[in-house]
Amino acid sequence: MSTSGNAPSGHVPSGNAPSNGGNKKNRVNLCLQEELGHCEARRFDVAKGEFSCKVAVIRLGDDLYALGDTCSHADFSLSEGEVDPEEQTIECNKHGSLFSLATGEPQTLPATRSVPVYRVGVTDGQVWLELGEPS
Ligand code: FES
Repeated sequence: MSTSGNAPSGHVPSGNAPSNGGNKKNRVNLCLQEELGHCEARRFDVAKGEFSCKVAVIRLGDDLYALGDTCSHADFSLSEGEVDPEEQTIECNKHGSLFSLATGEPQTLPATRSVPVYRVGVTDGQVWLELGEPS
């Protein structure tokens, strides 16, 4: 599937995505919101023009988060990890580092570097990702 990735501040309350915020031309549709289960992390391989990225999209209730899918410690997919809705983190299944869904910062070792955070939202039930440089 194709998606887009990118921009700062990951989490946008779903249904709350500013219809006039951001650049709609730089958005890529990922899936329908109803296709994402609560606490589910799903990987999207996004490619549009020269831009490409792998993104883990996480839904917590009405809130969505989008992080770079590759763990900053090693080449492992974060979307395979477990989401903690209370702590708002995702755990890397490889060595156990926890990453903040909101900031992409590692909360525990062995990872020491943040993963990128992308702007994601929902318009009319359609989940989109904004292309561009992540935060
Ligand atoms: S690969 Fe993710 S913590 Fe090591």
